[in-house]
Amino acid sequence: MKKEQLMELLNSMSLKEKVFQLVQIPGQYFLSGIADTGTKTDNSLTGEELALIGSTLGIYGLETTAEIQKRHMEEHPHHIPLLFMHDVVHGLRTAFPIPLALGAAFSPDLVKMCTSAAADESAASGLHVTFAPMLDLVRDPRWGRVMESFGEDPFLNAMLGRASVEGFRGGNGETPEKWRVASCIKHFAAYGAAEAGRDYTGADMSSRILRECYLPAYIEGVRAGADMVMSSFNAIDGVPATGNEKLLKETLRDAWNFDGVLISDWDSVGELVKRGVCSDLREAARLALNCGIDIDMCSFAYARHLEALVREGEVAKEQVDRAAFRVLELKNRLGLFEDPFRGATSTVERKKILSTANRALARKAVCECSVLLKNAGEQPLLPLASESKVAFTGPYVESKELHSAWAVSTDPEDTVSIREAAEELALSQGRSFIFAEGCTMTCREDLGPKSEERMVKYYREDTIPMQSVTTDVNMLKEAVAAAENADTVVVCLGEHRLMSGEGASRGELTLPKQQLELLKSLHSANKNIVSVIFTGRPLDLREVCELSRSVLLVWMPGTEGGNGILDLLIGAAEPGGRLSMSFPYCVGQVPVYYNHFNTGRPKPKNTKVPYYVSAYIDIPNSPLFPFGYGLSYTSFSVSGIKLSAEKTALQDSGSFGEIKAFASVKNTGLRRGQTLIQLYVSRPFAEALAPVKELKAFRKLALDPGEEKMIEFTIGNEELGHMGSDGKMHVVKGEYRIAIGLDSETEEWISLKIV
Ligand code: NOJ
Repeated sequence: MKKEQLMELLNSMSLKEKVFQLVQIPGQYFLSGIADTGTKTDNSLTGEELALIGSTLGIYGLETTAEIQKRHMEEHPHHIPLLFMHDVVHGLRTAFPIPLALGAAFSPDLVKMCTSAAADESAASGLHVTFAPMLDLVRDPRWGRVMESFGEDPFLNAMLGRASVEGFRGGNGETPEKWRVASCIKHFAAYGAAEAGRDYTGADMSSRILRECYLPAYIEGVRAGADMVMSSFNAIDGVPATGNEKLLKETLRDAWNFDGVLISDWDSVGELVKRGVCSDLREAARLALNCGIDIDMCSFAYARHLEALVREGEVAKEQVDRAAFRVLELKNRLGLFEDPFRGATSTVERKKILSTANRALARKAVCECSVLLKNAGEQPLLPLASESKVAFTGPYVESKELHSAWAVSTDPEDTVSIREAAEELALSQGRSFIFAEGCTMTCREDLGPKSEERMVKYYREDTIPMQSVTTDVNMLKEAVAAAENADTVVVCLGEHRLMSGEGASRGELTLPKQQLELLKSLHSANKNIVSVIFTGRPLDLREVCELSRSVLLVWMPGTEGGNGILDLLIGAAEPGGRLSMSFPYCVGQVPVYYNHFNTGRPKPKNTKVPYYVSAYIDIPNSPLFPFGYGLSYTSFSVSGIKLSAEKTALQDSGSFGEIKAFASVKNTGLRRGQTLIQLYVSRPFAEALAPVKELKAFRKLALDPGEEKMIEFTIGNEELGHMGSDGKMHVVKGEYRIAIGLDSETEEWISLKIV
């Protein structure tokens, strides 16, 4: 439809019809006429109101969406199609590794391919918008939603944010435009800085940290063309984001020129009342719309009050027009006025869902995202020697729940478990494997009070692990016997998938108790232990590392988890991941992240008396595993770091002549392998503190044993600049330092003077 036609349509609509384009309700309403929105507001809808609704969330599958769409368009006075939105966080039916895992692959291409494949499946199943990517920077693993983020680094977060937006749009030039979904970057802003890691609290920080660390990824998402933005639950500087004029109007709309659809989070308009910044829901509706929130997700504030607010002159009619027009524009961009089903048929849906290509991509992604944390000894246990007799133990051996709590459309039945993959391999390669779980995944205590109620409400009952006993003696005995009879024990441990995700903050970052008991018992029986760790967040892995010769981190790997992990264990693929979030030594260090500020009292190296310096008296300052860390099945060295010039002049334009940085990288091991070379910058001293180092570039490199190659990075304004209060990158005069290495703990600095 042309813009003028769209305008004509808007002008022909009544105020009520426009208001209801701004109302979003759960899909359940279309199935049963009512839904539990978790709010106390009267949320019943008349038949007339239901027919006017603009968008819905949480339902998918072509049969259902097409039937609802057809009925809705018949009933709507102007036959305006509904928008179907859904949380496609790491795949629809084919679950890819969680976003935090994708962050560890340091690969925009991989992110683009996975989001593109997810868009393909989603569009075919009748969806139009995904509530992704989540571009909240994260530093606190107690927060359950770190699994949805790309990690702790602003540069990586922004880069992968862009890749996701492009991927959902249907990138690679291969996906036809109609198999795209609109993306919605969230949660604006700084939801990832939840105080003490507790979900739904405030995020208190300086405007400088907000600008330099938290905002860059959202800006990049907007620049990449995200169609929507979602406001966050948290408050910033004491003002809840959904009613924060400075954030939504001044920053997002005015400074960044975002003219797409701005949606609230679930009932976050209603929460303006609960949090005491609005006296009632009517006031909340007024504030949210005035701040630029176009769609009210599930609070009913707009449905109940917006019409009256306009009629009584408290909200300008033009504001409702503007918001409704944005929603119509989005529907138009998605082609819904021409074809509300976007060419999807049940044949297309069947072909696209869980396609061979998507499964192959998911399997490859598992390998690229997994991080080898430890592989000790003269003869490391990984990859597993083909002749070794292996006992597979631990609750994740049998589990088909290898996706996160957010993979709401994934069916565990489609997932390949470790046991299934291993059995297939044993048959095809004649390997000798034994299996014994040893303990259950988790117990009531791990999942917190009320877990049973919560889970029965939200999940399929048969997938809930609700044993109340911690250790089953017979299971344990069987696993120990298997370990005694094996050369190597692969123990598959981890958080249950419901232990991370929304509302799943944790105060302890260890594995469930009975799993640690299992590990100890196995260790008494056999010292050749490979631990495979499943998790949605960084964990305290001290005990696991002490009791294991090798530790492979596989996150929540998704549908092809079993196959991908077996590829890694036998060395058919190499663990390509490097941590995108620091793994703490213990929970007391949290938040611990590499790009922190310096201190006037640094801890001297190797000091035994850490008093009156910035240090703990009982634990180290450094995390157990730092950002950027990860091993290969071979080893690498970086040396000979040099610059094309040690000095360069800053022009009046604020730019300087580009500099090249070089380093020599060598494969010092016995196998071909790939590594990630990382370039860090430390800014000169200025009035305000700068982070001790910041990642500014990275490159992957594959080398044969003994091979050595020179790599080159270009250093320009992007690399040395930092974001000023004007939202632009600034380079200052002074001494910058550059380091190139294999993780964020590299301290091989060379100096670059900007004069
Ligand atoms: C609440 C979550 O915070 C948000 O991320 C999600 O997209 C919405 N619910 C819709 O499910």
